[in-house]
Amino acid sequence: MGEDIFNIYNISCYGLKGVNSNSIDAIVTDPPYGISFQNNHWDKNLPDQQIWEDILSALKPGGFGLVFTSIKLMHRIMVQLEDSGFLIKDVLFWSFLNGMPKSRNLAIDIDNELGVESRITGVYQYVQGYKKGGAESYKSDNIRFRYEPASGLGQRFKGAGLSLKPAYEPIILVQKPLEDGLSVAQNMIRYGTGALNIEETRIPYEDGESKVGHNPHPKGRVPSNIIRTQEFGDGYDKFFLIPKVRQGKDKFNFHPTLKPVELMEHLVKLVSFSGQTILDPFMGSGSTGVAALNCNRKFVGYELEKGYFNIANTRLKGKQPINQTKNNTRKIKWQRKEMH
Ligand SMILES: C[S@@+](CC[C@H](N)C(=O)[O-])C[C@H]1O[C@@H](n2cnc3c(N)ncnc32)[C@H](O)[C@@H]1O
Repeated sequence: MGEDIFNIYNISCYGLKGVNSNSIDAIVTDPPYGISFQNNHWDKNLPDQQIWEDILSALKPGGFGLVFTSIKLMHRIMVQLEDSGFLIKDVLFWSFLNGMPKSRNLAIDIDNELGVESRITGVYQYVQGYKKGGAESYKSDNIRFRYEPASGLGQRFKGAGLSLKPAYEPIILVQKPLEDGLSVAQNMIRYGTGALNIEETRIPYEDGESKVGHNPHPKGRVPSNIIRTQEFGDGYDKFFLIPKVRQGKDKFNFHPTLKPVELMEHLVKLVSFSGQTILDPFMGSGSTGVAALNCNRKFVGYELEKGYFNIANTRLKGKQPINQTKNNTRKIKWQRKEMH
């Protein structure tokens, strides 16, 4: 890579063609989760271990990485990362209140199985998701019946379900080991890597908030490993606050798993320092890249799908942070839409 601010490739990331070993300061990536999200073919399988080995070799000693993953398969990626030679340092939780539970009414299934007709107890207007103002604020002619189980077994298992409401996505924090024999300070002097950038990611105090502790830092608190999307309540006010992106809100960017630029900026800043180079081997529509440029970092990205690559190219060329909102992340309004 030369002195360009960004270099992006419309090829598979395997082998990281064009990237020298020990040249990347940090990675921030949102790879396929292996859950076939919305039937996307590229999300069918988890990445092979090979890519983590490629990334390890591209990273400078002591360089950090942040890897998004799914709750169900995070253990597999963590084993892959560890087997590739990374140190597992932490798991950040990006939490939100607007995940949709994917459960079903099993008591009614039991009635059906037994050939018993469930009782209709009412009708309701079906709306996908919800918004402020409640379901009444939607216009929908999708009228559905409300059922009660009628069989004995259906009654016994009334309310039985299959899954919890999803409220977070894990982000694994990994580090390439320091160069053999070097202390953290020596590694930082030689490579510029080895430490997290706490200074740039401190969480500012709320207006009027009392600064507790012996020696409160003027810039705010040390960032925690929980990143929230909505205000959970006073007791949880100490975490970073980022809304999910509403998919399809912007016709220009149709990537189904678009990540908020504010979130990516926070992550980019956490694992790197001004002027350093961030790699995202699975860049999709380029949210990590936009965040990197916004934070005065350089960017290297790979994307296999031409359509997503083109969006990333346009965003990066024009530095069009299309889902960028104001800097004050604590004031960002609630948004709806589950994304991965
Ligand atoms: C979860 S999405 C990333 C979305 C991104 N965070 C955004 O905000 O737009 C993962 C992306 O990896 C891409 N991908 C999958 N396998 C790849 C490979 N071998 N090389 C490069 N890109 C790949 C997919 O096409 C998909 O766009």
